[in-house]
Amino acid sequence: MIDIPAMQGYRSRIEASFERWLPGAATHPTRLHQAMRYAVLNGGKQIRPLLVYASGHALDVPVETLDDPACAVELIHVFSLVHDDLPAMDDDDLRRGKPTCHKAYDDATAILTGDALQSLAFYILAHSKHIDVPPRRRIQMLEALSLASGSRGMAGGQAIDIASEGGQLTIPELEDMYIHKTGTLIRASVKLGALSASHASEKQLERLDHYAKCIGLLFQIQDDILDIECDTKTLGKTQGADLARNKPTYPALLGMESAKRRVRELHEESLDSLSRFDHRADLLRQLSRYIIERNN
Ligand code: IPE
Ligand code: IPE
Ligand code: MG
Ligand code: MG
Ligand code: MG
Repeated sequence: MIDIPAMQGYRSRIEASFERWLPGAATHPTRLHQAMRYAVLNGGKQIRPLLVYASGHALDVPVETLDDPACAVELIHVFSLVHDDLPAMDDDDLRRGKPTCHKAYDDATAILTGDALQSLAFYILAHSKHIDVPPRRRIQMLEALSLASGSRGMAGGQAIDIASEGGQLTIPELEDMYIHKTGTLIRASVKLGALSASHASEKQLERLDHYAKCIGLLFQIQDDILDIECDTKTLGKTQGADLARNKPTYPALLGMESAKRRVRELHEESLDSLSRFDHRADLLRQLSRYIIERNN
């Protein structure tokens, strides 16, 4: 679990936002709403919402404005996990140390859970009274999140991932797949925080975006390293799943040493992009470090 003291307050805010937006377990249709709650309320690392808060904090955005964008991006992420685990995709039984959504419920409910979480995320961005930005900015937020999750973002990356199972990719092709399936949503998280600021300069937005590109790619390379090096209990998902499905991954293609070197390079580059920011960007710096030091 992420252990950065300043983040604890944000985690409580994230939990409160989930409670505000997720329908109750007794709300009709109950099985679907229970499955949505099961998938969301089970202790993920919440990196993406924390990135929304951290990039907003770097630009002095009031925290109340960030709660709902942070919630929305995590709902999209959980939707992607629920579908990623389905038998038609990675066919995984374990997620966050518990049976995957389709195992705890059934395939149809898991598909609908993903669908409903996705819709809820966009409803939140469109509807939230707490997002204190001009209407044009709110539309830019909707654009950023929808682009990041669609066929030119996460869903596109997942399509490349599935098509490449059992095959070979070049390193540029592999990085392109990572940038799409994982990087785009991480980039959108940082962008949602930045778009919440009333006074960010183009240069600041560009630098934050470069930071986000670096950590998005490094997040997936680290995920692939952990799939090999970590144990199932710590990971909360089945160790060796990539190997079992013959997925092309960075360590499989280039070896563990090169994968770790690439992670260090990307970490350094992410910090360089923040060099013009003051201490208010420390949470972003800490999150980049956390991503390379994490063990789940
Ligand atoms: C897992 O994401 C899926 C990838 C994009 C690699 P996380 O490692 O952020 O999963 P949770 O949310 O903490 O469970
Ligand atoms: C998942 O990549 C990316 C998305 C869910 C979009 P992985 O398939 O490597 O994620 P894990 O390892 O199952 O969490
Ligand atoms: Mg996958
Ligand atoms: Mg998977
Ligand atoms: Mg993985």
